[in-house]
Amino acid sequence: MTQRFYVTTPIYYVNGAPHIGHAYTSIATDVLARFKRLDGFDVFFLTGTDEHGQKVARAAADAGTDPQSFTDKVSADFRDMSDKMGVSYDDWIRTTEDRHKRSCTELWKRIAAAGHIYLGHYEGWYAVRDEAFYDAAELTTAPDGTRLAPTGAPVAWVREPSYFFRLSAFQEPLLKLYEDQPDFILPAGARNELLSFVRGGLRDLSISRTSFTWGIPVPDAPGHVMYVWLDALNNYVTACGFPDPDAPRWPFWPADVHVVGKDIIRFHAVYWPAFLMAAGLPLPRRVSSHGWWTVAGEKMSKSLGNVLEPRALVATYGLDQVRYFLLREKPFGGDGTISHPAVVSRINVELANEFGNLAQRSLSLIARNLGGALPARGDATAEDRELLAAAAALPDVVRGLLDRQVFHEALEAVWQVVRAANAYIDHQAPWALRKTDMARMGAVLRVLVDVLRVMATVLQPFMPGSMARLLDQLGVAAEARDFAALAVPLADGTVLPAPAGVFPRYVEDAA
Ligand code: MSP
Repeated sequence: MTQRFYVTTPIYYVNGAPHIGHAYTSIATDVLARFKRLDGFDVFFLTGTDEHGQKVARAAADAGTDPQSFTDKVSADFRDMSDKMGVSYDDWIRTTEDRHKRSCTELWKRIAAAGHIYLGHYEGWYAVRDEAFYDAAELTTAPDGTRLAPTGAPVAWVREPSYFFRLSAFQEPLLKLYEDQPDFILPAGARNELLSFVRGGLRDLSISRTSFTWGIPVPDAPGHVMYVWLDALNNYVTACGFPDPDAPRWPFWPADVHVVGKDIIRFHAVYWPAFLMAAGLPLPRRVSSHGWWTVAGEKMSKSLGNVLEPRALVATYGLDQVRYFLLREKPFGGDGTISHPAVVSRINVELANEFGNLAQRSLSLIARNLGGALPARGDATAEDRELLAAAAALPDVVRGLLDRQVFHEALEAVWQVVRAANAYIDHQAPWALRKTDMARMGAVLRVLVDVLRVMATVLQPFMPGSMARLLDQLGVAAEARDFAALAVPLADGTVLPAPAGVFPRYVEDAA
């Protein structure tokens, strides 16, 4: 039976325009989805938008529109951005959809029926920007006297009737979860932070609000709307058809990986499993957290005017170049910075010189000297065998690394083979063999084609468009590009199409 794989991005707040941080989360998740598809899995890849709550309601009011028309517009813009970034999602969920309202109502009822919800009064600090409650001890004071959350978001004192979730009852079950499934939270740094947070004790969580109406009504509780995080997290089961056990996608639950930024790990690795335990539903297998991007060392902000628009970056550098940069430049779990020289250097050194030139040199020697016909392998030398073995190991190596979401290590593993192949071509010098030993020249070029084929196949999830063009040039049929197909050698004598560079150098505009 085909194995299933369910992977999600966070759903994006529709209070403003998409920026490169959002694109990053989605591209990383996309790489996982594409890799699993090539590995023969039945994949469900979910993304979408988080549309309720005070933050979005305020943004709509500031724009002078009603929240529904506002979220329709911004959600469509996020969707357009995702499409332009090559994000191959299978479903686009919006929390304002009826299917989601039904699902949240049912989740609430199950948690309540199990005795984990009670009515009380909330009094404390709330940050609308984070849609989160904070303890007084966590706050700092800005020079102008504003009280600030640890994230820098301003907080306000809130006092209103509220339903509470008995989060305190889940401290032990959560600690047991982290212990039984040591990889439930990755990377280790994020896990350790979470462990100490949960060990420090959990307070019951306010899960309804009465001071505004832009949310999903609490069943049988007029005036209460659900806390936006309860609503938002539940999107992951809504999309599987919850509460219908016969829904076609219900077998995808529980999710294999929730990809999230480090700022929202607590919601995903503490609140979400606690809600699910309370409702008697299976828990996700992994929450994988990534670090943040700054721009030339500065936090992105409207006031600094340095917010990077993903579609604009693609127009400047190309889609696959941007995707490659984001996953290559920094370790997934850590923070990193984007700057023009750093992007140009990745493009020109790694993509154009090391990888693109290798393909171009090999393929143009075949075109010029062999009429484009794919040469046969010769008797393998020790050097041939070493390079071929390094390439053949790549699918397993990359699979192992992507199963732990260490994207930069996966790309580094491929690049070790790229560099080895460059050393091989320089040492074998097929252009010189042309005059002395045509058979050996053919054998060397065939080794290079076979190695390029493996590299292009495993790089497809990262750079789908360019790798499709390269696989065309290598004579690999469109239906033979998954990992299983690597077991079948290319047919000797296949006439390859005329080679054309896949990665142009980035040349600074003289103007
Ligand atoms: N709506 C919530 C998520 C609900 S999921 C049930 C939310 N939305 S968000 O739009 O603010 O953020 C979505 C994702 O974008 C998060 O994973 C966040 O970490 C990521 N990023 C936002 N800015 C970022 C950077 N500057 N760098 C990298 N990723 C960042 O949170």
